[in-house]
Amino acid sequence: MVSMHSSSHASPRPLTVAIIGATGAVGKEMIAVLEDRVFPLGTLRPMASRRSAGQVVQCQGRSWFVEELPPSEAMTQGLFDGIDVVLLAVSKDLAQVVAPLAVRAGSIVVDNSSAFRMDPSTPLVVPEVNGDLLDAIRTTRRAGEGCLIANPNCSTILALVAVTPIHRLARVTRMVVSTYQAASGAGIDGMNELESQAHSFSRGEPWTTSFFGRPSLFNVFSHDSAVGADGANEEERKLLLETQRIWNDSTVGVSATCVRVPVLRAHSESINLTLERPTTESAIRLALENALGVELVDDRAANRFPEPRLASGRDNVLVGRIRMDSSQPEGRGVSLFLAGDQLRKGAALNAVQIVERLVSTTQEAGGAKSTLSALPGSGCRHKCSPTSAM
Ligand SMILES: NC(=O)c1ccc[n+]([C@@H]2O[C@H](COP(=O)([O-])OP(=O)(O)OC[C@H]3O[C@@H](n4cnc5c(N)ncnc54)[C@H](OP(=O)(O)O)[C@@H]3O)[C@@H](O)[C@H]2O)c1
Repeated sequence: MVSMHSSSHASPRPLTVAIIGATGAVGKEMIAVLEDRVFPLGTLRPMASRRSAGQVVQCQGRSWFVEELPPSEAMTQGLFDGIDVVLLAVSKDLAQVVAPLAVRAGSIVVDNSSAFRMDPSTPLVVPEVNGDLLDAIRTTRRAGEGCLIANPNCSTILALVAVTPIHRLARVTRMVVSTYQAASGAGIDGMNELESQAHSFSRGEPWTTSFFGRPSLFNVFSHDSAVGADGANEEERKLLLETQRIWNDSTVGVSATCVRVPVLRAHSESINLTLERPTTESAIRLALENALGVELVDDRAANRFPEPRLASGRDNVLVGRIRMDSSQPEGRGVSLFLAGDQLRKGAALNAVQIVERLVSTTQEAGGAKSTLSALPGSGCRHKCSPTSAM
């Protein structure tokens, strides 16, 4: 589904697009997004492991064979020649191998893994938030010059689409986030395991718990990423570090608690903000109403608020339960709840929007009304690598 706010933009010519990891949860969603946005697709090159080679995927009314991604030695022998865009939807380790080779071959590369998110020379971009970094690249990039952009973590993307309009209004100094993350956030195997547990339960059969190591069905458990010495897991750390990087503000505090819930797709987040400047609930509502990528679902009378079922398959992040926090000084605290499709805006859609904005011939491609330049302390630190720089 294409959101009311999002927009596709004309490109000078149809593009050759490779999706690496095209058979996974994010890769499949990328194909769906290319279809839905009338993306200027010339040729699609879906790639995955040997397991998937020969499968057929449909996009824009045509069938495309899934190719096996060859070993890295073979990748250097012209694999990416003539590929305008490489969308990476594979593990961090594989992305670290593939991305530099594709950049060197002159492709625009958008990586969904965490491999390059904290690399200062790789822009970390949510178009609605700091899309001006892409505009800077678009205007300075030479023809045939490769370029790498990192897609932020899915929970970070969803949070910042919802919170940045409030940050622009009153400057957020602290954000407390509790996530309710879907099984598909761990990939297609995580989603399949939850589905199979539901089927087994309905038939009275024993469940398998091999993927998460515990039941997903009827359960809530701490996020399945490594817990560090400070007690924070990787997902919680990403919310802090990536928020600071995207807002270009190392002083903003983020306290996160990330858990999995028995939901197939779309993450939810409970967010409490501390604001530097006092503001009002109505000013916050107005800011969110006018924000790109946000849809208010906040009907107190009907008890209708964001739910992952409502957000699934949607481009927009649903935001509701907006209320001032009376435990903080007046006008300086607000709470809200969001639900957003982490496979779509949290991954595939964000990546495609990045490409659209980089290749667009229009000024406001990918569409943020105001971007990082409106944030306190913003600045552009991007580097678009020449073809030999990676
Ligand atoms: N799931 C999310 O909500 C989400 C959100 C944001 C970011 N991400 C990130 O996006 C990336 C992909 O995640 P995912 O959830 O889509 O994972 P996934 O469902 O497990 O899919 C993994 C993909 O990688 C392919 N692959 C695995 N080994 C390969 C190899 N040696 N050569 C070529 N392809 C290989 C798989 O192909 P086969 O099918 O052939 O095995 C599959 O297409 C990860 O870095 C993840 O952290 C995920």
